[in-house]
Amino acid sequence: MLNDLSNAPREVAAVAEPPAATSKSGAPPRRLKPIPGHFLLGSTVEAWRDPLKLFARTVRGEDIVRYKFFYLDYFLVNEPSAIQHVLVSNAANYKKSRNYAGLKVVLGEGLLTSEGEHWRRQRKLSQPAFHRDKLRGFATTMAKCTAQAMDRWAQERMNQPFDLHEEMMRLTFRIVGLTLLSRDFDGDAKLAGEALNVALEWANEYAEAVVRLPPWVPTARNRRFNRAKQQLDELVQRVISERRASSQSFDDLLGMLMAAREEGTEARMSDEELRHELLTLVLAGHETTANALTFTLYLLSRHPEVRARVEAEVDSVLAGREATLDDLKNLDTVRCVAEEGLRLFPPAWIFEREALAEDVVAGVHIPKGAIVGVSPYALHRREQPFHDAATFDPERMRKKAGAAPYGKYDYLPFGGGPRMCIGNAFAMMELTILLAMTVARFRVDLAPGFELELDPATTLRPKHGVHVTLTQRSR
Ligand code: HEM
Repeated sequence: MLNDLSNAPREVAAVAEPPAATSKSGAPPRRLKPIPGHFLLGSTVEAWRDPLKLFARTVRGEDIVRYKFFYLDYFLVNEPSAIQHVLVSNAANYKKSRNYAGLKVVLGEGLLTSEGEHWRRQRKLSQPAFHRDKLRGFATTMAKCTAQAMDRWAQERMNQPFDLHEEMMRLTFRIVGLTLLSRDFDGDAKLAGEALNVALEWANEYAEAVVRLPPWVPTARNRRFNRAKQQLDELVQRVISERRASSQSFDDLLGMLMAAREEGTEARMSDEELRHELLTLVLAGHETTANALTFTLYLLSRHPEVRARVEAEVDSVLAGREATLDDLKNLDTVRCVAEEGLRLFPPAWIFEREALAEDVVAGVHIPKGAIVGVSPYALHRREQPFHDAATFDPERMRKKAGAAPYGKYDYLPFGGGPRMCIGNAFAMMELTILLAMTVARFRVDLAPGFELELDPATTLRPKHGVHVTLTQRSR
């Protein structure tokens, strides 16, 4: 996964003019019927109640399934070469879907939500900051924050069950604050976390709403959102202004983004561009990772035999000290566990595009304006190549002769093509360090009676957290 990062921008060049909408075999494309549902709403109510259940009921080995969601024409693509077509070979025919509209109000023209030339320029300017070599220094910050969080857990969390997800959100938020802005969000900037939550909830509800009230309509919810958004913008602008006025140099992501220059013109990012990118990175960079950590520790607590193997590895590699970047290559079981966790519970459980012109995907006609969804949650549950796909089996992630034991578009926790996650190396480094250090020090068990419930919102997260107890391990 780590090496994939450097491939992402090169794939931009592979994006060409959209070809004519014919099927590869030359046969006329099939016109797929939507899954039967309500005459007006189609499958909207079922999707709204439980989209994972809807997909599980309807996909059943199909490469592509069509749904009617009220007025939306929606195709779920669940076959690697068809996904590659949408995300890479014919990426020029697709823009991000209208479901990103809520996030766009929150994040503006940041990498996650922007399109076209603006996105291309920003991606090119930002990409070097996420190169593996540039991330080296962040490993120490990640390990230090984890050690401090664990010291606090040892004091505050030992005697009664608590929500692990809440703690992981706090930890990854602190890490993103320090690595991105050199700001400690564990202290007085807690307000920023609350404002971010308000903004995210608003974006979630906006994406799901049948009737979307723009943020200027003075409802109580919109007013709360606008206040939160203003707080976030002001906070980020304050950091940028302080940085511009300072003669000190910083090794954080903001420092790298501020130093980035456009080839040819030597132009740098404006304050507004930096603000949008920073908010995007804070948002994209902490909840996803917190969810992945929580789900993976949940899986380990359900599989003591796997946990014992992880404990043996971290005891031998770390021997009681903090993890470093150099340890990562020796923590292969931890990597496999993290990747298997991302397979079963991918935080980005779905991402979507909108067809700019008609197309043919998996032999099926896609009309202009249709939404094309790719769901890593559904894709990762294909029996080929993931035999016994519902089972947590990290050994399936062991590399064979240095290569992943599955095709490039079989496993997409970080997406694929030019819009692939820019933070994937950052996230894998963080997941490996945090998991290794947590397992080394504590045994995490589910609280008595706890049952996991999933909440497939903008990210896949545990609906009511994951309630656990901790025991200190004596090696
Ligand atoms: C386990 C953690 C993470 C997961 C599962 C994840 C997943 C994803 C996925 C699937 C996409 C592509 C969405 C699409 O194609 O529509 C994406 C995009 C993105 N992610 Fe991540 N991500 C994670 C962590 C991070 C981190 C740590 C950062 C930054 C520090 C980050 C920043 C971004 C950005 C900026 C984009 C937009 C890239 C673009 O369109 O150019 N992500 N992420």
